[in-house]
Amino acid sequence: TAEASVKEAAVQTVSGGRVLQVGTLKPSLTATLSEKYDALTLPLGEVRSGFLAEHGETVTAVVTSGRTGVDAALMTELPNLGAIVHFGVGYDTTDVERAEELGIGVSNTPDVLTDCVADTAVGLLIDTLRGFSASDRFVRAGRWPAEGNFPLTRKVSGTRVGIVGLGRIGSAIAARLTGFGCTISYHNRREIPGSPFAYVDSAAALAAGVDVLIVAAAGGKGTQKLVDREVLEALGPDGYLINVARGSVVDEDALVELLIERKLAGAGLDVFTREPHVPEALLALDTVVLLPHVGSGTTETRAAMEALTLQNLDEYLAQGTLTTPVLE
Ligand code: DGY
Repeated sequence: TAEASVKEAAVQTVSGGRVLQVGTLKPSLTATLSEKYDALTLPLGEVRSGFLAEHGETVTAVVTSGRTGVDAALMTELPNLGAIVHFGVGYDTTDVERAEELGIGVSNTPDVLTDCVADTAVGLLIDTLRGFSASDRFVRAGRWPAEGNFPLTRKVSGTRVGIVGLGRIGSAIAARLTGFGCTISYHNRREIPGSPFAYVDSAAALAAGVDVLIVAAAGGKGTQKLVDREVLEALGPDGYLINVARGSVVDEDALVELLIERKLAGAGLDVFTREPHVPEALLALDTVVLLPHVGSGTTETRAAMEALTLQNLDEYLAQGTLTTPVLE
């Protein structure tokens, strides 16, 4: 049929192109991309423009991660690009609006990392309130019992927790903390019909009514500094901030300042504004727990993310569609 031959032509166009890796990926994924897909890798720096002039037109699919992404400028240098496949759930480094205008499909790896990122949020919350990392440093430095007991910390069970971004990950965090007897409220762009948790229509109002504010909102233009100075001040000197989402969602300068001035009780951070840069002042503070963006970093989850990345790529190369396209 005509429909079948149109599809066949589309498949040929799609699979006739090259796969391009943009940025650093998990070594096993890079190896598969090069061995099984004969993928090209975008070089860094000045050689990039020569490379794009030579290969740009042949590329139909890009595999990248949220750390690197594909901006509008790169899209114009890849005129036949049809899909941007992300390893990871976050894709804020890719210009999704521009991709949509150009008819380029974008996928990520949702769901498979929800458990681990939610586990990380809860782990950070417990560590930050109970000071486990700081206690560990206390023991290792031989300060116990020489300096007496470690100072008393803050009880976790029963705390009031506000979640900024009650999506898949935010909901998984809420489910875990319900088991700790925490009272959960949340702020989203819109109230979620039927949610068992109380909706608060601004981040500042949410922060004012909780002990712990957890950031689980996706990064990108719409959430840039959503947690600003006003929100952090509303959280107050007895309040804690936990961020497992993106550094860009929080005003990091204000956060550091308020932590130094003890106008916030503490923070647990897996993400930063300019990774891998961690503000120097935080290193000296025992009230903060700092993680090197490891929310999804377990063997099991990274393997599942890799498999879903390749599933998206395979589906695109075979039939021009994506398994888990991002929803705007
Ligand atoms: C993601 O998936 O976006 C994480 O931040 C990286 O693992």
